[in-house]
Amino acid sequence: MDDRPIGIFDSGLGGLTALKELEQLLPQESIVYFGDTGRVPYGTRSRETIRRYAAQDMAFLMEHGVKAVLAACGTVSSTAGDIGQKLPVPYFDVIGPAARAAAARTQNKKVGVIGTSATIHSDSYRQALLALDYRLEVYPQACPLFVPLVENAFISPQEEVTRLVAQRYLGPIREAGVDTLILGCTHYPIISPIIGSVMGRGVALIDPGKEAALALAGTLQGEGLLCREGRPRSSSYFVTDEPESFTSVAELFLGHSVQGRVERVDVGS
Ligand code: DGL
Repeated sequence: MDDRPIGIFDSGLGGLTALKELEQLLPQESIVYFGDTGRVPYGTRSRETIRRYAAQDMAFLMEHGVKAVLAACGTVSSTAGDIGQKLPVPYFDVIGPAARAAAARTQNKKVGVIGTSATIHSDSYRQALLALDYRLEVYPQACPLFVPLVENAFISPQEEVTRLVAQRYLGPIREAGVDTLILGCTHYPIISPIIGSVMGRGVALIDPGKEAALALAGTLQGEGLLCREGRPRSSSYFVTDEPESFTSVAELFLGHSVQGRVERVDVGS
């Protein structure tokens, strides 16, 4: 048994897609969420900068006494996984769980991967997929405009701007005939109704935050690291920009109001 909280982080709001899933899987667990809202997006930055930010984010969570760290960010997962592996607590990211779900799901062996520029250029999803099944055909596509659209709440299924951008990005992958698409950035599931309607009915969408949350929950359960039953839970949110703007958009991600304190912090530059 381990009563310490679980630490989750992202460059901004996207990691909330994993937090939401974790709340449902392990409702008794306390969570510390860190969103680097002052420095989002990460996905257009250099590898060195992403790695520096990721190390600072992880150090911040460790200072809060977490028992496990989930990098709920495709960009960090694909660029700084080795930093996470060196933490003194179990570390999880989104690449492996999402790749395994996609490889298990595809029937025609054609898998699309969308993500930030950094994630797609790292090639990490393609390598993880081919390591699972060398016969897979992988179709990657960077979608750099999706994160700012989501962070600015252009997320309604009727949102014309987001739909037009999605049509532009997803056209080639749809034409390739993929039957499975990894939403390789944790911001993307929030616009999955738009992505799904552009891709068409037969295409399965893989949510990496959800798959990573399942993997984390399974490991904590398997290793006896869950908290004691009946213990009061708490959620704390830390951001690096205005808490108010985070709170209002976070509610759209979580499907409920933010419960717990939201505090502005500085983790370095
Ligand atoms: N949620 C992050 C990811 O999964 C967003 C990336 C960004 O900050 O650009 O990649």
